Amino acid sequence: MEEQPVLTGVEGRVGTITLNRPKQLNALDDALMDALGEALLRFDADESIGAIIIGGSEKAFAAGADIAAMARWSYMDVYRRDFITRNWDTVRRVRKPVIAAVAGYAMGGGCELALACDIVIAADTARFALPEVRLAMLPGAGGTQRLPRAIGKAKAMDMCLSARVLDATEADRYGLVSRVVPLCALRAESMALAASIARYSLPALMAIKESVNRAWESALGEGMLFERRELHARFASEDAKEGMAAFLEKRDPVFTHR
Ligand code: CAA
Repeated sequence: MEEQPVLTGVEGRVGTITLNRPKQLNALDDALMDALGEALLRFDADESIGAIIIGGSEKAFAAGADIAAMARWSYMDVYRRDFITRNWDTVRRVRKPVIAAVAGYAMGGGCELALACDIVIAADTARFALPEVRLAMLPGAGGTQRLPRAIGKAKAMDMCLSARVLDATEADRYGLVSRVVPLCALRAESMALAASIARYSLPALMAIKESVNRAWESALGEGMLFERRELHARFASEDAKEGMAAFLEKRDPVFTHR
């Protein structure tokens, strides 16, 4: 039977997606990115899912775009197919929280995929780099845009221009990742975090994610206005009423995700 490029599972309110091209260190080819996009959109549309985890293998989260495929393409091939935008950008359309659980290599497009997720949990074995310059390419899945926002221009330039590899501790110190955990705890810690997030009111999670992404993607004034409107909109949420009532009544809230 042909191997599936991604494997999916569900635990409680958490949807899990495992990148599954271990022999190629999860190099991200079109079949894998199509399957990843489909799985993300399926979980995003599923009322019973509150958070999503994307993981890889112990050796590699993903070693980047598939160089063997790219080596065959012309400018006209990638332009007409809308390479990257067509399927890699699907993760940006997901409204629920997406956690990248990274062990081993997160190189090139693999690092960019992690950067496109909302939270990055790194195993102590994780290695991050944007080594496209070695191929005379450039990080073209958001790396030149998201990395400077995440870690600042000086560190981003260093990584992009020299192909410097960051270990998990450095990536944590620079703000590229959210937390570092021992490799043996990566799965359990990612699941515990996702499950704890998924317990919260889904509309609140979506509003928070959208608002933080505004800060990430726009000027401060526009972001502040967006945040204020999102805050006002919370007053139309049944869960927000319940959350505040539960606090005042000193009990746990019961959210209906409305
Ligand atoms: N594309 C295609 N195949 C890849 C790959 C990639 N990005 N990365 C690894 N592989 C394949 C190797 O060709 C090799 O296949 P074979 O066994 O058939 O020879 C297999 O995976 C194992 O790889 P290595 O033998 O190289 O493993 P290693 O442990 O010695 O090294 C590594 C690991 C340092 C990650 C090394 O594989 C490497 O440097 N990979 C390429 C990283 C890279 O340049 N990524 C950027 C890609 S371009 C990009 O992503 C553009 C963009 O922005 C969208």
